[in-house]
Amino acid sequence: MPLQFHRFVDSPQEGTILMFFLGTKSSETTTIGGRSYQTDEWHNLPSNIASSISRKLHVQKDHPICITRAIIESRFPSPTYKYHNTFFPVVSTHQNFDSLGFPADHPGRSKTDTYYVNKDTVLRTHTSAHQADVFRANESEGFLISADVYRRDAIDRSHYPIFHQMEGARMWDRTKVPNGDITAAVWKDLEALPTHSMKVEYPNPPTHPERNPLQKEHSPDEAEVIAAHLKRSLELVVRDIFSRAKAAAIAASPDFVDEPLRVRWIEAYFPFTSPSWELEIFWQGDWLEVLGCGVVKQDIMEKADLPQQLGWAFGIGLERIAMLLFEIPDIRLFWSQDERFLGQFKGLSDNLENLKRFVPFSKYPACYKDVAFWLRSSSSSAGGGSRANTQDFHENDVMEIVRDIGGDVVEDVAKVDEFTHPKTGRKSLCYRINYRSLEKTLTNEEANRYHDRVRNALIEKLGVELR
Ligand code: PHE
Repeated sequence: MPLQFHRFVDSPQEGTILMFFLGTKSSETTTIGGRSYQTDEWHNLPSNIASSISRKLHVQKDHPICITRAIIESRFPSPTYKYHNTFFPVVSTHQNFDSLGFPADHPGRSKTDTYYVNKDTVLRTHTSAHQADVFRANESEGFLISADVYRRDAIDRSHYPIFHQMEGARMWDRTKVPNGDITAAVWKDLEALPTHSMKVEYPNPPTHPERNPLQKEHSPDEAEVIAAHLKRSLELVVRDIFSRAKAAAIAASPDFVDEPLRVRWIEAYFPFTSPSWELEIFWQGDWLEVLGCGVVKQDIMEKADLPQQLGWAFGIGLERIAMLLFEIPDIRLFWSQDERFLGQFKGLSDNLENLKRFVPFSKYPACYKDVAFWLRSSSSSAGGGSRANTQDFHENDVMEIVRDIGGDVVEDVAKVDEFTHPKTGRKSLCYRINYRSLEKTLTNEEANRYHDRVRNALIEKLGVELR
């Protein structure tokens, strides 16, 4: 069935239906976005995640994630690139992992990293989950897929278990380009792209025979020109974002002095591209990774029944770009319904040429609380000492318990101490949680109430012993 992937397209009414179904979870089925799923022992979806699925920030007019999406889309014009913005977030493990060549033992498949609805069904961890279906549908030479993605992860100002990605791809067809000459066709398209004067650094060689090889199906010239088209396209995205950010900064303070923009391409690995790279931007003293990309593996095109096509793909994190663009200091702000946040972006979707910098509203005081505990003794007495401990304990479980209880009131969770008892081999950990609302001052009693619930949940769900 060529249009099989349309089964995963969300309908506009779904959001409303979802409201009634949220939280209707029994031991056997759960309903997400109006669709019913069988659950099993793999199910690990907390209610706060399920309730955020309806938000679709990337298509909410005037939301900074939506504005960022529109700006990037403007660099990849229709109809060469077709935009897909409504794919449903629940996908099969086949779509999310197998179709992309992830090995069976890849750590990304573990329950500690990924939200499972059941053994064969997950919340997509990246927009690449839709690549194979969109390639197979073969509706356009290129495409962009923007969507919410889900990962169990640490909590801090730049990590949140839901974020947004944009997938991009551009293919050329050997049977359609003049004389079957891919190299000449891609060169022509590359020459039609604007140039830029941004300084680009290459700390690694662009390819490496073992670590980052060309594919046997591609001639070196083909791979090289496809990579050049990919890199130029993405450098233009970065330049565009930064020139808009700079204009907004100058509008806010006319004596603003900017530093020259530094970007670099570094070697990377993805199971579905080769060679592969990541783009990093030098930002406030650090190199910040903003996207992954590469030349699409030919077996993906073969499995999509398009062996005659070759090209590139990328995946970019929209929150990171939006944070750079507007100077938004905390990733939780994207989920805020507070007018002091949303009001600052009103009208910008229709006026992308005149962006305004975000002006942080007053920061409320932080409230730090520590929790220290011994890991389950049964795991450490099993002969493996602390190693056994680390096998059945995963830090992401702590993160999620805290997130599930504290929601967006938790700014940060950090491990501050770790200790193994020299005689018993038992391991003790201490985490420091920063409770700070974006919207009001928390009283100490309110913070304690959250913290007591966190303490109890750690005992109940992880079997730890509080110290
Ligand atoms: N899906 C990858 C990620 O989330 C990014 C990527 C997309 C890399 C497409 C290469 C090609 O990290």
